[in-house]
Amino acid sequence: DAPEDLEARAPIVTVMGHVDHGKTSLLDYIRKENVIAGESGGITQHIGAYGVQLENGQKIAFLDTPGHEAFTAMRARGAQVTDLAIIVIAADDDIMPQTKEAISHAQAAGVPIVFAINKIDRPEANPEKIKERLASMNLLVEDWGGKIQSHDISAKTGLGVKELLEKVILEAEILELKANPNRLASGTVVEAFLDKGRGYVSTVLVQTGTLHVGDYVLAGKNSGKIKAMQDERGKNVKEAGPSTPVSILGLDGATQAGDKFSVLEDEREAKDIASKR
Ligand code: GTP
Ligand code: NA
Ligand code: MG
Repeated sequence: DAPEDLEARAPIVTVMGHVDHGKTSLLDYIRKENVIAGESGGITQHIGAYGVQLENGQKIAFLDTPGHEAFTAMRARGAQVTDLAIIVIAADDDIMPQTKEAISHAQAAGVPIVFAINKIDRPEANPEKIKERLASMNLLVEDWGGKIQSHDISAKTGLGVKELLEKVILEAEILELKANPNRLASGTVVEAFLDKGRGYVSTVLVQTGTLHVGDYVLAGKNSGKIKAMQDERGKNVKEAGPSTPVSILGLDGATQAGDKFSVLEDEREAKDIASKR
């Protein structure tokens, strides 16, 4: 892509952290507060990725991976989709093994980290202790004179979540994330399943270009013409640009998380390539 073809795109964010430190609670809170969801009266469908729009209009795409395994599996398949990692640490606990693992994963992938120091509504919470522990691991958060963003939150009450997301946006701005929306789409499969009524459904994250209903898609060993696309609310959409998660119908089989997908000029080319895989 020529530089003049590139446009700013939303960051793609993964939430990681130790068991029970509050990843799901944080994502649930964010989804509930999601401006887009609010408009339609709530989330009706669970998919592995979804878009969130903040009050100020800024967008973030969240990868709702069941934590580290999906992240590692996708990375092992060469799929580097995450721009940023939120690592949730319960302030009434400690830096636990899976916290360390999450930090290592993000560092190995060269993905900036924003720490969400969670559960500060609990009387036992000690966010300063957590920051001190991080400092002892050479991870200096801003409060401690370092460069790593962190914010104290309660995923339960929502305290600090807005500010956390603002920090995510700030961190993303440094990355100057861009993509060309005006080309054939390509991206990564986030999850796939067989729906009794609808057939094979793949949730994909568009990374570059714009995906349209009617496009011929090649994804891993599968291919097909997109019959319909839905956003995280199950609302039918006709197109999906960069950093947009969307469920697609019409592929001839179950793709796998981490499969790359791309749109080809015509159906025969797509089938040809798929049959040789
Ligand atoms: P796994 O997916 O099992 O690794 O856990 P998780 O990190 O998704 O944690 P989850 O959101 O399931 O939260 C674990 C428990 O902590 C639940 O009982 C939550 O209600 C509770 N919890 C999460 N966030 C908060 C918080 O901010 N404050 C309080 N008081 N409890 C919280
Ligand atoms: Na849990
Ligand atoms: Mg969870």
